[in-house]
Amino acid sequence: MPLEAQKIVKGLDWSPSSWQSKPIAQQPVYPDSEALERALRQLARLPPLVTSWEIQNLKHQLAEATRGQRFLLQGGDCSEDFEDCESNAIAGKLKILLQMSLVLVQGARKRVIRLGRFAGQYAKPRSSDTETRGKVSLPSYRGDMINRAGFSVSERTPDPELLLRAYERSALTVNFIRALIEGGFADLHHPEYWELGLVKNSPHAAEYMRLVERIGESLRFMETLTGSVLADINRVDFFTSHEGLHLHYEQAQTRQVPRHPGWYNLSTHFPWIGDRTRSLAGAHVEYFRGITNPIGVKIGPSVTPEEALALAEALNPQNEPGRLTFILRFGVEHVERCLRPLAELLRRRERVILWCCDPMHGNTETTANGTKTRRFDKILAELQQSYHILMDCGLHLGGVHFELTSENVTECLGGASGVTEADLARAYRTQLDPRLNYEQAMEMALLLARLLAGQA
Ligand code: PEP
Ligand code: CO
Repeated sequence: MPLEAQKIVKGLDWSPSSWQSKPIAQQPVYPDSEALERALRQLARLPPLVTSWEIQNLKHQLAEATRGQRFLLQGGDCSEDFEDCESNAIAGKLKILLQMSLVLVQGARKRVIRLGRFAGQYAKPRSSDTETRGKVSLPSYRGDMINRAGFSVSERTPDPELLLRAYERSALTVNFIRALIEGGFADLHHPEYWELGLVKNSPHAAEYMRLVERIGESLRFMETLTGSVLADINRVDFFTSHEGLHLHYEQAQTRQVPRHPGWYNLSTHFPWIGDRTRSLAGAHVEYFRGITNPIGVKIGPSVTPEEALALAEALNPQNEPGRLTFILRFGVEHVERCLRPLAELLRRRERVILWCCDPMHGNTETTANGTKTRRFDKILAELQQSYHILMDCGLHLGGVHFELTSENVTECLGGASGVTEADLARAYRTQLDPRLNYEQAMEMALLLARLLAGQA
């Protein structure tokens, strides 16, 4: 093997900052580099948000999903914003993931891993570095960690202090999530307490209620049988994830810990590489190959099967189960053409991958009056096609990735409640990508459960 390849395979010459010598995409330009250095020094001193044993636990669960013993549900906002760091919004994110996961458990007949796009999803890739309105061009909004959405010079200038604010808000979010779980928010003995809110009016309310009752009955049955309270399933786990885009931020939280070898990114359990930054020779792949966390890579229609193979080899040279998730986001029009050859090649080369479908990002469209949206039917169709293509290739769909919210927004079209183009203006709140609303997300979970049960 040539020396360069050996170095990559063995992870030699890697350090948390080795990415800095590689070409990098999608980074902000800070006018004051000393202020950036000061913020990063502070960030590097702050305590971690997650621990290495939680990260190992997630990796272990993802390894089980790779073997078909669990199913991954990853979801949340396209980007979190600072305003949304408040109790109702956070509780709402847990609630929707929890409720969807219960539905999926019934369909998939396996345990579900809940992985939020939260507690750190504050940096976004953009298709253009600048935004022009009339005669004025300013840096694009890149997420609340970097600059602000308002269109003025001061709001759009990247501000390193925001890295600290993002970190603190991530900590507040993680803290509240832990407290809710500890306090019994997710106690499976009392699913009837999880306020159903909008789902009550949904055409699927009755089906959901039946599922909830069945869970309660099964628990009571098991406890009668064993004569003890099933403490282990009292509480459910939630893990955090975000796109590891801003590499200075990620590096500042990359640490070694006692008793666990390797380097951990302790700002999140599961960072992923976006579709725009997954270049093999680039800085993101360099950074990610050296950390021990389980990681994801977004795989879009421009990835060739050979590139996907090279990514798998560079990012998971030991072929460790649970280490690498491919988050497929081809779009319904491309999934058949793109996924089949890629899946066949990776299968032939025996690469161990968790295959997760993100049916959102390849199905974004713009309406006649310029609103970004996604259609419920296309999202569902991409899920169905991915499921069947992977099965044909002797693999399996092991997870899904959604942009969603527990609020009653009108950003995506369709679903049983029939959101139309005329409805979009009513409650269109996202700063970036359109999300499934509560009803659409629950409906998607019910239909996905049918698919996983082999009924669609
Ligand atoms: C995202 O997940 O919000 C995103 C930007 O996705 P992708 O990298 O797949 O385009
Ligand atoms: Co998005």
